[in-house]
Amino acid sequence: MTGGFYSLAAVFADEPKLTRAFQSGDGVGWGDHSECLFCGTERFFRPGYKAHLVDEWLPALDDVTPKLASGAKVADVGCGHGASTIIMAEAFPSSDFIGIDFHAPSIDHARAAANGQGNLRFAVAKAQDFDGAGFDLVTVFDALHDMGDPVGVASHIRQTLKPDGTLMLVEPLAGDTLEDNLNPVGRIYYAFSTNICVPASLNQPVGTALGAQAGEKRLTEVLKEAGFTRVRRAADTPFNMIIEARP
Ligand SMILES: C[S@@+](CC[C@H](N)C(=O)[O-])C[C@H]1O[C@@H](n2cnc3c(N)ncnc32)[C@H](O)[C@@H]1O
Repeated sequence: MTGGFYSLAAVFADEPKLTRAFQSGDGVGWGDHSECLFCGTERFFRPGYKAHLVDEWLPALDDVTPKLASGAKVADVGCGHGASTIIMAEAFPSSDFIGIDFHAPSIDHARAAANGQGNLRFAVAKAQDFDGAGFDLVTVFDALHDMGDPVGVASHIRQTLKPDGTLMLVEPLAGDTLEDNLNPVGRIYYAFSTNICVPASLNQPVGTALGAQAGEKRLTEVLKEAGFTRVRRAADTPFNMIIEARP
């Protein structure tokens, strides 16, 4: 939890910007926050990825870990500081990974953290139109709800996947109604969502503002609208739900 306090510091530091955004409705871009948000996000999420990603979440997907073990092409979209990308690249040395994020300072940090790992590279690009095709697996960790056009992003991802490829969507755990989320974890997420995730989405074209407590039903609607035909919850932990989507 300690990492989350760095992000909390960013909310207080950015209070004047947030006040203006609440008045104008224009949002606050992810990259327009003070720097502690970026390291705070990594420090908050990384321990969960380290604990669950390789041993629980990836094996919960159909046919994915055998492909990763023998050599697959993977994109991690909205990768931030690259914690998830690096964990996967270290676990599956025969596969090739690219981490993508539109926030250039985060990609600089990810490149430094990767420390020359050979099967891994990072690129500054937008989730809705990044280059590349023929991916076996595309992952999005705690980022789709921050994007302005989640349907457009999911639709672009579907087009970059192989016909038998997989989108792994990691989102905060949430129920489908407000009442379902009135618990300690939901309260933390609603607070961050209101001050960071919703303003980040409103700052981008379309501005869907899913929020960090969108819930499985709403996320499934987004993925189906983007053209995915098979969508299911593959796993969950106290903080995250893992949704598998196939073309
Ligand atoms: C909450 S952070 C999660 C970062 C990382 N996946 C993690 O779990 O630590 C959301 C990330 O989405 C990125 N992002 C938001 N909108 C984006 C877009 N349209 N294209 C690419 N990246 C975007 C932000 O720059 C940020 O790094």
